[in-house]
Amino acid sequence: MTKITAPTTEDTISVGYRIGEVVTPGSVIALEGTLGAGKTTIVKGIARALDILEPVTSPTYTIISEYEGRLPLYHIDLYRLSSVDEAELLGAEEYLFGDGVCVIEWSEKIRELFPENYIRVHIIIECTDGTRSIEIEGLEL
Ligand SMILES: Nc1ncnc2c1ncn2[C@@H]1O[C@H](COP(=O)(O)OP(=O)(O)OP(=O)(O)O)[C@@H](O)[C@H]1O
Ligand SMILES: [Mg+2]
Repeated sequence: MTKITAPTTEDTISVGYRIGEVVTPGSVIALEGTLGAGKTTIVKGIARALDILEPVTSPTYTIISEYEGRLPLYHIDLYRLSSVDEAELLGAEEYLFGDGVCVIEWSEKIRELFPENYIRVHIIIECTDGTRSIEIEGLEL
């Protein structure tokens, strides 16, 4: 496990960038952390490393966003999803087992659909000063 301290938003983006530099086609990244922890911020860094110019956003009702870059990036946000059945209806497995890089917020909702090997990124907001502690498992940085 790698543990990185990120005092600012730009530091969180840098962690995403480092992840984006080493992922390969088919990589699945589960982003864990409470509301506002910095999950989407990590995705912004990954997108930057994949030469994606389009800004990464979190529109309220979009569950899956696709971005074209050095590798395709699938940004899946399951916050509003209520069941694994819904994920299956959306065709989530096609993204999880596709040739792009798949990054998922609130992924615990579809854990049973996951491939055996995936990268786990857990973001913790330190209560003292809001610094983020970011733990990464399943990937050597
Ligand atoms: N290391 C950091 N230090 C301070 N603020 C940060 C840090 N990383 C990210 N932020 C800020 O936290 C806020 C929330 O970030 P972000 O939208 O990425 O969180 P999220 O986990 O995706 O939230 P949600 O659960 O709503 O999807 C943003 O304003 C972002 O700039
Ligand atoms: Mg988010």
